[in-house]
Amino acid sequence: MEEELIKFAIKASQNSYSPYSNFVVGAALLTKDNKVYLGCNIENACGTSNCAERTAFYKAISDGYKEFKAIAIVGGKNGEFNKLCPPCGICRQTMSEFCDEDFVIILGNEKLEYKKYALKQLLPLSFELEG
Ligand code: THU
Repeated sequence: MEEELIKFAIKASQNSYSPYSNFVVGAALLTKDNKVYLGCNIENACGTSNCAERTAFYKAISDGYKEFKAIAIVGGKNGEFNKLCPPCGICRQTMSEFCDEDFVIILGNEKLEYKKYALKQLLPLSFELEG
């Protein structure tokens, strides 16, 4: 499952629009009923950019999916995925909005090697309106 999802994330990265940073990111989000949503980072001249992870989440959510098992992420300068690419803080908070604390985050590289984390490890004490 992990390697397959990383391959999907690499595929997603091919659509990255990142002419300002040249930092290419791809994400593959697995729903609880095993549908895979792909996302890439999308930048903008005015400085706003959407991360690959949130692109994948927003595509899935706008299609009516709200339950997720895992996400695989690849990222690196000029599309070289030789280091792991941990999700930014905003993406972690987005995950916590829709996923339980055992949601799996797979950080992969080009050799399909990976490290796997639970959301609770990457975002302890996430913000909630009701404590
Ligand atoms: N980026 C992502 O797509 N995901 C992350 O979790 C971190 C950063 C993108 C945003 C921007 O297009 C580029 O990487 C450099 O920050």
